[in-house]
Amino acid sequence: MIHSDLKSIFGTKYNDEFFKNGSRHKELLDKNGILIFNSFISDVGLKILKKEAGELKKDSYKSSSEYNVYISEFDDNFPKNSSRNRIMSTTKKCIPNDLIPKNSILQKIYDSPIIRSFFLDLLNKEELHPYEDSLSSININYYDKGDALGWHFDNSDFTITLLVKNCSKGGVYEFFNNIRYKDNKENYDFVEKILDKKVKGTKVNSLEGDLMIFKGNTSIHQVTAVEEGERVLVTFNYNETKGVSLSEQSRKTFFGRIK
Ligand SMILES: [Fe+2]
Repeated sequence: MIHSDLKSIFGTKYNDEFFKNGSRHKELLDKNGILIFNSFISDVGLKILKKEAGELKKDSYKSSSEYNVYISEFDDNFPKNSSRNRIMSTTKKCIPNDLIPKNSILQKIYDSPIIRSFFLDLLNKEELHPYEDSLSSININYYDKGDALGWHFDNSDFTITLLVKNCSKGGVYEFFNNIRYKDNKENYDFVEKILDKKVKGTKVNSLEGDLMIFKGNTSIHQVTAVEEGERVLVTFNYNETKGVSLSEQSRKTFFGRIK
């Protein structure tokens, strides 16, 4: 059962019945690489989340990071122009998990057994656990004017995000579904076409309150620079095994500290 504290913060169709069976959405997720649950959060819930995120923002850590699309080391064995060596960048601000109050509805959603089991069914996983470190399980990400998320594949094979606030211009999520491998090998040629802007991906018009589940490990994705307003996106991060911490390097980059 959904905890009574949570009932009013979900959109009307997201009730006990809905969360009972996540596996019925699995096929669509596998096919499209993305699932969006529109108005997952109600207007009441959004109001609370916007206020909370707004109040926390002053404590956020601003980061700029550079990487290649595979989030791996640059590699001299490849030409300079190869996707292995092209420099992508991300600028954003972030509130780590330990600054999100224990009684926040974000913590309640994250910890809710019924929602966890919904994700397990949907993602066809045996287990989902929080991060061992105190910073990485839930993050609130802020993208202000000029902030962007450069093209990349995720390390994790699924990502769960909640859009709390949308910017008024820019900040568009764009992806290419399931294009990473060709004949079981990295498809560098196609990725280079993307980076050279020779092809256009699928743009997602997500709205405030939408929950998005995304297979980011095989689907390259970016968020274009915010041009006007502010975009606030929460990520719910789980691990398939217990006791996993985000790397110290990533914690330093995104949170400015390791604990
Ligand atoms: Fe990503």
